[in-house]
Amino acid sequence: MEGPDALTQDDPNAMTDEAWQSVLRAVDQTYSELVAHQEQLEHQNAELTAAKHLIEGVLHSVSDVLIVIDRDGSVAEASESLFALVSGGAPEVLGRPVAEIFDAEGAAQIGAALNQLRMNHAVADFEASIPTETGAQPFHIVLSPRLDARDRFGGAVLSGRPLGELRRAYAELELSHEQLKQAQSQIVRNEKLASLGRLLAGVAHELNNPISFVYASTHALEKYVGQFETYFQQVQSGASRDELVRLRSELKLERALGNLSTAIHGAREGAERVRDIVADLRRLSSEGSGEKVVFDLAETARVGARWVERGAKSGVTVAFTGEDSLRVLGVPGHIQQIVMNLVQNALDAVDGGAAPEVRIDLAVQGGRARMTVSDNGPGIPDEQRAAVFDPFFTTKPVGKGTGLGLSISAKIADEHGGQLSLLPGPGAVFVLDLPLADTPGEA
Ligand SMILES: Nc1ncnc2c1ncn2[C@@H]1O[C@H](COP(=O)(O)OP(=O)(O)OP(=O)(O)O)[C@@H](O)[C@H]1O
Ligand SMILES: [Mg+2]
Repeated sequence: MEGPDALTQDDPNAMTDEAWQSVLRAVDQTYSELVAHQEQLEHQNAELTAAKHLIEGVLHSVSDVLIVIDRDGSVAEASESLFALVSGGAPEVLGRPVAEIFDAEGAAQIGAALNQLRMNHAVADFEASIPTETGAQPFHIVLSPRLDARDRFGGAVLSGRPLGELRRAYAELELSHEQLKQAQSQIVRNEKLASLGRLLAGVAHELNNPISFVYASTHALEKYVGQFETYFQQVQSGASRDELVRLRSELKLERALGNLSTAIHGAREGAERVRDIVADLRRLSSEGSGEKVVFDLAETARVGARWVERGAKSGVTVAFTGEDSLRVLGVPGHIQQIVMNLVQNALDAVDGGAAPEVRIDLAVQGGRARMTVSDNGPGIPDEQRAAVFDPFFTTKPVGKGTGLGLSISAKIADEHGGQLSLLPGPGAVFVLDLPLADTPGEA
């Protein structure tokens, strides 16, 4: 017997060592694999424990009702908030069909929703009540599917938000909305007062002129009355003809007679001007009724522009071009408010500019009246063009503007079946389009 046996016999330990070594290597490897597995397991275990704590924490502290439902519709897990509601607590709830926790109507809805979930995984959303010791409590329920790793129906999660709380939140929201509305109307009131102040400044200026006219005329009349009185006293005391002739030329009665009618004329003109201004004012204030009449847009624009000019004191005057008269249908006081807002904005924009210009053009276009108010101020940057009609959008300092002018103006235009729009510059170009009074089919 030669061969391997002979070799073994020659060196009996050689093979044994090698075998041992390979066995040891295998054991080593297995051991290190075991250690790695062990580490992995410990790691996973720690993760699982953390996840469990997280879930327990959530279930414990969530104020809404949370129910984890098994594939067969029974309660697998639920939040503390549910246990607190149902008499008997956790033992009464866990493992029980979820529908039984709700009242009859709710149970039917949940049954139907679970069937839907099984079929097409559609999330359901409804109201249902849980009977409690203190009476039925309404909840807003959302029932969503719980899918397994292969995207198949594995149960559901039900979350219920107490509607009592929602209703309270709603009431709070309502309250703060109410407060906001009040604050807003306060701002609107302040804005009205501010524009009333501007208007009054303009009107006061406007009245000043004719009143001083009347004043100067009456002053002159007073002087002439004195002269005539002196003359008539002489006539009555029987003065001679020569004396009277001398007195007449001394008192310059011929000239006084001529001036008398000028003074009377002046006083009347001033009074008429005051009357017109009062009529304008009355028209502006008496249109609370909002009744539409046929009026001259050009005249309204002139009056509105003049009042703002006088109030502004910058000395810039509005140049008028186009039609002298334009009959439109609307509420003149409201339209005058638009004119005043646009002119005020234009005057504000050109204030301090090199050669300030504000222009109002009146035209008929496409059977409509068209009033264009333009200025050579800085214009409106592209990124603000969309915002200028928003209520409360303003770039003016506090106290100078509330940002309501254009939004109110646009609303008024709309109420008239018209439109207020902003055209491309240079400068700012606002166009008010209104129905003409004489358009067939209108008025
Ligand atoms: N002619 C104009 N030129 C440049 N910017 C303008 C012009 N008209 C309006 N704007 C811009 O649009 C903003 C809004 O105008 P709007 O008339 O609505 O409010 P306001 O003038 O700021 O305040 P309020 O009119 O309430 O006094 C202004 O603050 C300004 O930035
Ligand atoms: Mg304004």
